[in-house]
Amino acid sequence: LKVDGATFLPTDADKLANLSQRPLSAPSLVAIAAQCNFTGMKQNLQELDIRFRASDNVASGPRWFTLLDAASWVSSSPLDLSVIQPDFIALSFYKIFGFPTGLGALLVRQDSLQTLNKSYFGGGTVAASLSSERFHQLRPDFRRFEDGTSDFLGIISLKFGFSFVESLGGMRSIQQHTHTLWRYCLEKMRSLRHASSNAQLVKIYGIPNEEPLSSQRFGPIISFNLVREDGKTWIGYAEVEKFASLEKIQLRTGCFCNPGACETYLQLDAEDVKRNLAAGHVCWDDKDVINGKPTGAIRLSISYFATHNDIDVRSLSRIFFQG
Ligand SMILES: Cc1ncc(COP(=O)(O)O)c(C=O)c1O
Repeated sequence: LKVDGATFLPTDADKLANLSQRPLSAPSLVAIAAQCNFTGMKQNLQELDIRFRASDNVASGPRWFTLLDAASWVSSSPLDLSVIQPDFIALSFYKIFGFPTGLGALLVRQDSLQTLNKSYFGGGTVAASLSSERFHQLRPDFRRFEDGTSDFLGIISLKFGFSFVESLGGMRSIQQHTHTLWRYCLEKMRSLRHASSNAQLVKIYGIPNEEPLSSQRFGPIISFNLVREDGKTWIGYAEVEKFASLEKIQLRTGCFCNPGACETYLQLDAEDVKRNLAAGHVCWDDKDVINGKPTGAIRLSISYFATHNDIDVRSLSRIFFQG
């Protein structure tokens, strides 16, 4: 699929290696989500990096730049920048410690910074500018990208977020804790069956039944939908979300801003999505099942503050499941 010069590909080491061999007429960017925010599946970043660089045969001229979307990954896993060094890494801090919201970071390699151009300028980003002439010179370093007043109170509070993570033993401990709970939750959810029909209650997306289900391969996320006793029809995600909130369980529902994952795992083709829109379904609404197909899913995200007691799937099964 080609849209305005952008191509979307499934993340796959062979496809990336092929991509890096293409001759380039301009500097180009390949962007990868380190962890899928729908299935929790993690990429083997080291392998992707090695394969991509090994087959990059563009010796001179424009080169590939790499952007790692680490937003989902860094919420529960350490990211070791001695192993991979993408040109750019994007992340959101609230996904790590919940506060402050609306503040993230774009980490940029020093030697990739000069490639970034700006088509405008705002306060704080220039060395000099003129009002009488169309003239300005940007500041030489990263400050040329930080337009306007920064969220300095939010930035100061990050210090406490990082200290808190350290006090819990760091990201490695968080990864171990959340992974243990994820395994526990996965087993519980998979074991739930309707007593009358023996039909499985939970349909989980993108997590295989086979091992290894290590913390190297999966982050602590489970996306699912619930199936009725007949084993065929769905309990809509909006219904589940509302009942769950009565049990004080907060769930994210829909497509999680990840339309590609919804298309893949819910087997919605382009026609389905357009037909659903024409039928009045938009992102964030409650039209959860159309023509017998779910329009989204339910996501459980396990954080550092979750405990075994929180993983009480009986609360869900009490509502939806007779058995
Ligand atoms: C992988 C990934 N990238 C980007 C985002 C967007 O983050 P934000 O809303 O903080 O910009 C999300 C949020 O769910 C995400 O999971």
